[in-house]
Amino acid sequence: MNKLEKANKYIEEKKDQVNNRPFYHFSPEIGWMNDPNGFIYYKGRYHLFYQYNPYDVVWDDMHWGHATTTDFVQWEYLPVALANDRWYDANGCFSGSAIEKDGKIYLMYTGHVDPNLGFDRIESEIFERQCIAVSDDGLTFHKVKENPVIDEKLLPEGYRICDFRDPKVFEKDGKYYVVLAVRNKQRRGEILLFSSEDLLTWAFHSSIYQSKDEENILLECPDLFSIDGKDVLLFSVMPCDPDFEKQVQNHTAYVIGKLDLEKGEFLTERKGLLDYGRAFYAPQTTTGKDGERLLIGWMHKWHQKNPPKSYGFNGMMSLPRQLTIENGGLVQKPAIDVSSSFSEKIDRKGVLIRPGEELTIDTKNAGYVKLIGHRTKAFFVQFFKEGNKAIRFHWDGKDGKLTVFSSYGDRETIQIPIKEEACDSITFEWFIDSHSIELFINGGQKAASFIAYEQEKGKQIVISANEQSVIETIEYREFI
Ligand code: FRU
Repeated sequence: MNKLEKANKYIEEKKDQVNNRPFYHFSPEIGWMNDPNGFIYYKGRYHLFYQYNPYDVVWDDMHWGHATTTDFVQWEYLPVALANDRWYDANGCFSGSAIEKDGKIYLMYTGHVDPNLGFDRIESEIFERQCIAVSDDGLTFHKVKENPVIDEKLLPEGYRICDFRDPKVFEKDGKYYVVLAVRNKQRRGEILLFSSEDLLTWAFHSSIYQSKDEENILLECPDLFSIDGKDVLLFSVMPCDPDFEKQVQNHTAYVIGKLDLEKGEFLTERKGLLDYGRAFYAPQTTTGKDGERLLIGWMHKWHQKNPPKSYGFNGMMSLPRQLTIENGGLVQKPAIDVSSSFSEKIDRKGVLIRPGEELTIDTKNAGYVKLIGHRTKAFFVQFFKEGNKAIRFHWDGKDGKLTVFSSYGDRETIQIPIKEEACDSITFEWFIDSHSIELFINGGQKAASFIAYEQEKGKQIVISANEQSVIETIEYREFI
């Protein structure tokens, strides 16, 4: 039995041991999942691949898991697409992307070779090279004989082959391009661009983006696409050496600007954070069925508190988010159909909240809350409330600041400044699932994701205020 068959047999035999799954966020059939990979709309369905270790709830020995959906709520698991079974991917099929060519899906991924995987890093023994696997039917994939298609021979002087990964491939004016994360000899992160006519033979184009101030970071999982006449570059910031882990928090960033292919550089106009929460990393985009740009991210961050081992799975994906550019900034709107997946709404208008009073909403399992409040007022909204524990959102209109405190997981406080958007009201939309909360502020101008894997969590939503406050609208829907 080969490595792929072994993985699929294991999943088939053990998948019933998984419990406490999220209701509508995608989670792996069993075992560990990290980055979304190969996100593509192909022959009428969305295909999502992901970094996958079916055998345990911890990261190890990366395969590519595979699932499809049409609505991002109902998912169908497919057999594991890739196992690390060749000399060039012996220690992992790392992250990558997908593109359709001549009716076939081409997956481009990083073959990771590290004989010391799991022990101390010996950089001179680590090789990351780019590889291709092709499928005629969107179900079984074969690795091409040309692999690896981008290796140390194509990587210019001055870069490290030990951190050279996460190909995101795209087509522009009849030519193929790929963006890749790399570290240079000064240990700084850069994003490289390569080009190809046929996806198999590649040439170095240029370094389009460089981290300037910070050292020892890698700009992982880069993505590059155009929307609304602008080019957008995404990446996830990873501290590379343990000494730096405290200074640099993992986060995901976007840069809006222009890719100048002639000069070989990305001209930055505006930068921002993709998600302000504690649980969002390595997102990837694709073109949706109507030509829209859809993004999906791993709802977790490295070194975050994991679910209890007894759940049998570890990892979730965010909801898909439709990206647009409004007033020069990146806007992310949840791209699932709220009205068909959630029950009739409970709608309250002009709700007066007096100090000391609590307005509670009892929820069953998972739901959606939309709240529109006065920008200048202050109020609290708590989820998963159980005794003193909760994920608490505190909107302070005077300071223009949302403070989020979670007493679950790693017990953290974060602050989200919301100053720039001038209007009288502020709108919050929360998607609540069994272990997560995804928040969209002011129609997606800001987003924030949080996880709370603890089994014992309350189901009430509690709204309160220190000073008298009127909330214009409170809408609640239960997931069905
Ligand atoms: C991002 C990442 C990628 C790598 C993958 C390995 O989370 O570190 O850079 O390809 O995970 O699983």
